[in-house]
Amino acid sequence: MSDVLHDEAAEKVVEIPSPKSALDAAAVKAAYRRWASVYDALFGSVSAFGRKRAVEAVNALPGTQVLEVGVGTGLALPYYRANKRITGIDLSGDMLERARQRVRRMKLSNVENLLEMDAEATQFADGTFDVAVAMFVASVVPHPRALLAELKRVVKPGGHILFVNHFLAQGGVRLAVERGMARASHSLGWHPDFAIESLLPPADLRRAVLQPVPPAGLFTLVTLEREAGSCASPLVA
Ligand SMILES: C[S@@+](CC[C@H](N)C(=O)[O-])C[C@H]1O[C@@H](n2cnc3c(N)ncnc32)[C@H](O)[C@@H]1O
Repeated sequence: MSDVLHDEAAEKVVEIPSPKSALDAAAVKAAYRRWASVYDALFGSVSAFGRKRAVEAVNALPGTQVLEVGVGTGLALPYYRANKRITGIDLSGDMLERARQRVRRMKLSNVENLLEMDAEATQFADGTFDVAVAMFVASVVPHPRALLAELKRVVKPGGHILFVNHFLAQGGVRLAVERGMARASHSLGWHPDFAIESLLPPADLRRAVLQPVPPAGLFTLVTLEREAGSCASPLVA
């Protein structure tokens, strides 16, 4: 399965690679209903470094209004500086409930909102946020480029969009393993075979700053400046 998109830079319709097994919103909610109670214990530590790196990067950027999409159980929330005002959204009410408990337990007063909302089609006005960050989410949403387009819409020109994610290896044993694991995407709740090109069109891929993140460069931190005047790539199919 692949999406057909209009590539702004090349001014042509291109076919982009997409994971073999797409997750729709119902599959995401069902997967994370199962994962919610064990998510922190199972996934929290392997991804901790990437999450901390991403939040450090957010903390170092100008602006105070931060949107965290796919906030999950809120593992990243304690790491934001007090001057950053955080709105977290997630499709899964089960994951969000755990984030709310964390905010209450840790008295995180800079977390302003935790909302059940689809990151591909939010209810925020254009340019609401200085920064949007998606940690381990891009390979979970049904349409990654729709996510990118929506984040470009809600981030101010000159603001920043960050992703930390696992992307498909370019070759070697890891590529074979990830292709094999892709068959379990629905029960895993993410796509092991998620290529960076599924998220970033060529023009954005050229501009983005990519930083490998431990363990073993398994994850990548992507930072993209929201260009003045850039707009969402319209889906044509
Ligand atoms: C792998 S978890 C990552 C959670 C958190 N960011 C972290 O670092 O632990 C992916 C999260 O994205 C959420 N998600 C998936 N698709 C979404 C969408 N379209 N809109 C909002 N949240 C979504 C899932 O419900 C889940 O909580």
